[in-house]
Amino acid sequence: MSATVIRGSEIAQTIRAEIAEEVKKLQQEQQITPGLVTILVGEDPASQSYVAAKNKTAGQLGIHSKQLTLPAETSEADLLEIVARYNQDETIHGILVQLPLPRHIDEGKVLFAIDPAKDVDGFHPVNVGKMVLGEQCFLPCTPHGILELLSRSGVETSGAEVVIIGRSNIVGKPVANLMLQKRDSGNATVTLCHTRTRDLQFHTRRADILIVAAGVAQMIGAEDVKEGVVVIDVGVNRVGETASGKAKLVGDVDFEAVAAKAAAITPVPGGVGPMTITMLMKNTLQAARQAGELQTS
Ligand code: GUN
Repeated sequence: MSATVIRGSEIAQTIRAEIAEEVKKLQQEQQITPGLVTILVGEDPASQSYVAAKNKTAGQLGIHSKQLTLPAETSEADLLEIVARYNQDETIHGILVQLPLPRHIDEGKVLFAIDPAKDVDGFHPVNVGKMVLGEQCFLPCTPHGILELLSRSGVETSGAEVVIIGRSNIVGKPVANLMLQKRDSGNATVTLCHTRTRDLQFHTRRADILIVAAGVAQMIGAEDVKEGVVVIDVGVNRVGETASGKAKLVGDVDFEAVAAKAAAITPVPGGVGPMTITMLMKNTLQAARQAGELQTS
């Protein structure tokens, strides 16, 4: 079997064009320019490149964006003060604190401090709770991007055996939750695997849809999947990094080997990554619209 490559970069372009149109409309009709601030603490090269990509995309779509880079030694109190400042700033509709944070800062405390109405990552407990209940809220960007990829590629999730590897708060837990809900790209039978799963291959081999977010380079090979599986590879692993910082990006899936057996598969790069950023833009637009509705009501 020769797999269909699910090109997230192309699907993302289509959605970004729709967002750019909506941003223009919001400006013309309500004189509101969506505003996003990204806050990065420290110098992790992967985080730096993610944040730069988020700000660049915002600019391309007409979203006003501010990139704040703080030293690794920034105290928790200072970071909380900065978040509080942007909670009050009417030109900023979305606040994104890039994770992970340095160890001396309590991540939960910082995420809790963000105004839920500006929580475009969907990480605030209020938004997490609403998501679990199936209420309208900001959906976390990577899980939302995965759902969009599946639906825009015509993958049927209803009744499907979905196996997810990785139980992070950012990907595994929320995507599991969304896919079991009665909703578009939901209604699946979900199995969530993790580092303590006894027989991982037993689960992966019976997956109709396999979502891998483990952070282990090329851990899934052809022997781990069944013929006709749909594979979503969330992994971004830098391998062969040189002193000059050059590295090759590979996913958690051995793309060539698994593509030979799969019905469809996402590449790395150019799969899930561009969709995550696109969903962040969508949430920022939504946050700006909601702020506009509050002003006029
Ligand atoms: N670190 C890895 N993914 C994400 C994300 O989607 N949002 C934030 N804020 N940090 C991340």
